[in-house]
Amino acid sequence: MKPRNIIIDTDPGIDDAAAITIAVRNAALNVKLISTVAANVEVEKTTENALKLMEFLGADIPVARGCDAPLLKKLEPCPEIHGVSGMDGYDFPKVKRQPLRKHSVEAMREVIMDSDEKITLAALATHTNIAILLRMYPEVKEKIDEIVMMGGGLSGGNTNTVAEFNLYNDPHAAYMVFESGLPITMLGLDVTNKAILHKNTALKIRESGKEGDMLYSLFEHYRGGTFEEGLRIHDACVMAYMLRPELFKTEKMYVGMVTEGYAQGATVAGKVNPIAPGREPNVNVCVHVDEAAFEEWFAGEFCR
Ligand code: BDR
Ligand code: CA
Repeated sequence: MKPRNIIIDTDPGIDDAAAITIAVRNAALNVKLISTVAANVEVEKTTENALKLMEFLGADIPVARGCDAPLLKKLEPCPEIHGVSGMDGYDFPKVKRQPLRKHSVEAMREVIMDSDEKITLAALATHTNIAILLRMYPEVKEKIDEIVMMGGGLSGGNTNTVAEFNLYNDPHAAYMVFESGLPITMLGLDVTNKAILHKNTALKIRESGKEGDMLYSLFEHYRGGTFEEGLRIHDACVMAYMLRPELFKTEKMYVGMVTEGYAQGATVAGKVNPIAPGREPNVNVCVHVDEAAFEEWFAGEFCR
């Protein structure tokens, strides 16, 4: 089977690092570009982290630096989850590579327009770059087959009681993406909070080789859960969905974004659109994950 061509838009980020490592290693995915954005930490750091990963993995995939702040809000990074560098815990060799000399919005446009096949956007972060891409170059829409995103949720948040981090950081960009008319699959907290790794699995991954060892060291510093209760590797769900969609149950829903007020960053999702009745649902929402199968899949990506 032909590999699926993807662009990863990301803010590494420890769970991003796990997702990127899986994508780069799995021949079913052809990663054409890594586009970075400010979210977990500042964009200088997320770009450096993406370059470190490419070098470590020996991957010849270009990295393009994107936006350094959300569209309208001030950046509110979360070093308390991923560490000050955004990827604390592993001593990566000094990076010799450089990012592309163009903005990631330009780089995404070029990759998409130059590709013979349609491209999937794997959105692991705040949607600032993607919203600007769609607004500046709407012609790319014809050549995007799907946006598979980690973010939002049907009930509850993780940044506050209502909002998930990626969408909280740039709700206006997320609004533009949800309203874009493109096919979207959403992996929200309802599934990503359940897609967890336990310590025995993480230990097996550590023994699998240098990539597993690197990720284990990052996991030791990750504060998205604990080894005891299980680590929530949210962004890896995007790769799991692309590689093993049968692990998830999905439902078509209308998803709206709250862009202002106390509930800023929350998603309002349901089967009936209260704002424009009769309109088609805009998002394929993952509502269930087979937790045991997810953990087995994750381990299997390393322990082959
Ligand atoms: C999301 O927020 C970030 O901290 C993670 O990398 C993930 O993309 C989880 O809410
Ligand atoms: Ca992320």
